[in-house]
Amino acid sequence: MTATTDLETLERDLLARVGAANDEAALEALRVEALGKQGSISALMKNLGSMSPEARKEFGPKLNGLKDRVTEAIVVKKATLAEAALDAQLKAEAVDVTLPPVKPRLGTIHPVSQVMEELAQIFGEMGFSVEEGPDIETDFNNFTALNFPPKHPARETHDTFFMDARDERGDRKVLRTHTSPVQVRTMLKQKPPIRMICMGRTFRKDSDATHTPMFHQIEGLVIDETSTMADLKSVLIAAIKAYFEVDDVKLRFRPHHFPFTEPSAEVDVGCDRSGGQIKIGAGDDWLEILGSGMVHPNVLANCGIDPEKYQGYAFGMGIDRLAMLKYGMNDLRAFFDGDTRWLKHYGFSPYLLPGLAQGLG
Ligand code: DAH
Repeated sequence: MTATTDLETLERDLLARVGAANDEAALEALRVEALGKQGSISALMKNLGSMSPEARKEFGPKLNGLKDRVTEAIVVKKATLAEAALDAQLKAEAVDVTLPPVKPRLGTIHPVSQVMEELAQIFGEMGFSVEEGPDIETDFNNFTALNFPPKHPARETHDTFFMDARDERGDRKVLRTHTSPVQVRTMLKQKPPIRMICMGRTFRKDSDATHTPMFHQIEGLVIDETSTMADLKSVLIAAIKAYFEVDDVKLRFRPHHFPFTEPSAEVDVGCDRSGGQIKIGAGDDWLEILGSGMVHPNVLANCGIDPEKYQGYAFGMGIDRLAMLKYGMNDLRAFFDGDTRWLKHYGFSPYLLPGLAQGLG
C-alpha cells in the first residue's frame, strides 16, 4: 500500500466518523484524535521532515489538502450539531398557548363580586356611570336628604346601626342602611343629566337565612328633564332580562311607599316555585326583587336640583339576593362565612375575566 492510498483511507475514515458524530463532545474527541498535538494527522505532518524532498513534494500538498478538508468537515458538523441542539431546546421549552390554564392556586371570585361585575356591564352598556360612597354615612345623606322626616318611624324600619361619632350637623353617624345616600352625594356634586349606579355594602340589625347584618345593594338614579316611569320600566326590564339570561321574564310593578320616591313601585319578577327551587322566567309565581319610583321633588330640592325643571327615576336592589337567584344558593349567611369549600363550589375562576361572558355558561 502506498502512502497516498493510506492518506485516502485515513480521510475516508475520518470524514465518515465526522458524519457519524452525533453530539458536540464526540466531535471534539474526534478533532483531538485527528488534529490535536498527538493526533494522527499531526503525526503525519511531523513525518514530512524526514522524507526525501521528492516524496515531501508529492506527499506534502496531499496531506495539507486532507487536513483542510477534515478541519472544514468538523467546523461544518459542529455548526449543524449546535443548531440541532438549539432546536431541541426550543422545542422542549415551547409553551402551548392553546392549553387550558393551570389549576388555580389563587382563591376564587366571590359570587357577589361576580354579580357586581355583571351589573356594571349591563348598566354600563346602557350609559350608566359607576359612583361610590362610604360605608359610614351622615344622618343627612342616609335619611334627611332622602325625605325621611326627623324622628319619623320610617327611620326605625331600617334597624340602623348608629355610631358614637357625630357628623358636622351634630347627628350620630350611621352605617349606611341602603345605597340611596350615594344618590344624594352624586346630585350634590354633579349637575343633571345624571345617569348613575352605585354598588356596595349596606348594614341593618337583622340576621336569618335571608338576612345578614351586612349585605349588598345596587342603586340606580337617572335625572334629566324628560325621564318618566315608562323609561324606568323599560330600563329595568332590559336589565333583568340581561342579568338572568332569559328572554321571557315578566316584571310586575306594584304600588308601594318610599319616602324618597313618588310614585313608588315595588317590582316582582315572575318565577316558578313548584320544584322546591325558584326558577326565574317560568311559572305563575312572583318574587319581590327591587324598589323603585320617580324621585321625590323634595329629594331633588334637598340636593340643590330644581324640581320644576328636572325629574327622574331611581331604583334599588339587593345584590346578594340576585346572586342567590341566578346561581342557586339558598342560605345568605354562607356568603359571609369565609368557608373556602363553599367558595370552591360556588366561586368563579380568577383566570377568567369576571363579567356577563361567564354568567351561567
Ligand atoms: N333604598 C331602598 C331600600 O333599601 C330601596 C330603594 C327603593 C331604592 C326605591 C331606590 C328606590 O332608589 O327608588 O329598601
